[in-house]
Amino acid sequence: MRHLLEIDDLNPSELKKVIALSLAEASPKVLDAKGVALIFEKPSGRTRNSMEMAVNQLGGHPVYIQPDELGIDVRETAEDVVRVMACYHAVLAARVFDHGRLERMAATNVMPVVNLLSDEAHPMQALADLLTMEQEIGLKDINRVAYVGDANNVWRSLAIGCSMLGIETSVASPPGYGPSDRDVERVLSAGGKLAVTKDPIEAVQGSDVVYTDVWTSMGQESERSARLDAFGQYRVDASLMSRASNRSLFMHCLPVHRGEEVTNEVIEGPQSKVFVQAENRMHSARGLLVWLAQQVSPA
Ligand code: CP
Ligand code: NVA
Repeated sequence: MRHLLEIDDLNPSELKKVIALSLAEASPKVLDAKGVALIFEKPSGRTRNSMEMAVNQLGGHPVYIQPDELGIDVRETAEDVVRVMACYHAVLAARVFDHGRLERMAATNVMPVVNLLSDEAHPMQALADLLTMEQEIGLKDINRVAYVGDANNVWRSLAIGCSMLGIETSVASPPGYGPSDRDVERVLSAGGKLAVTKDPIEAVQGSDVVYTDVWTSMGQESERSARLDAFGQYRVDASLMSRASNRSLFMHCLPVHRGEEVTNEVIEGPQSKVFVQAENRMHSARGLLVWLAQQVSPA
């Protein structure tokens, strides 16, 4: 039984395969007459819609489920929820506050469990981001992927995914918001180089991608004021972009707080690929679902 709680639940060749499947024009009906349960403990625009459409394109039926309907660990345990969902659905995908809840769900091993964002990881976003880099530059030609801002769920999955493909990454964060030692070890052990710095200019120097995300993630709203103070010097603007390579892309998972982590000029500029990323959420979701189906019934 295979799950995707973090991008390195795939091995590098499986990751390349999922990217290749995401690029495929045809949509094999691998989910014909099958259900996919989509549980969201937090809001979502891209993830819900891209998953629903990907399931539909593969012939399946997505069911969007709000947490109150299930009462996970209130009405019944997370483990029982998954065992029940396995009676109706081929895959369970969930957006949760606590990554540990996803681990408990996956440990039931009754159906594949996919992480649609947790406090720790956002592997479905990383799949779309790698697909975008492949289309826009070519993964084997990417010099360095720089991330400026909070070393959060989006950064972690992106950095691990790049590292698995041998792509060097850098991350610039203010004190207290950078990667933990465990994060650094995990990224390095995936195979690629990682530069950790407090200096955004150093991080983006010569890079082919400049990536940022919100300074305050869902669930951290009470920290917003402190984070605005801490991240004030970490905004991606035209001056910072000029330190990256001439062909550098600007990337952001969205939703964006314009004027906070990135200026309007950069996100609306010619280097910005944020809406390509958004579209690729659907293509990469389809690629991942096809790959998961192949693990159950090899072609
Ligand atoms: N990037 C992303 O996951 O967007 P949503 O929160 O809107 O799903
Ligand atoms: N880091 C953000 C990503 C949203 C897609 C969050 O967790 O809220």
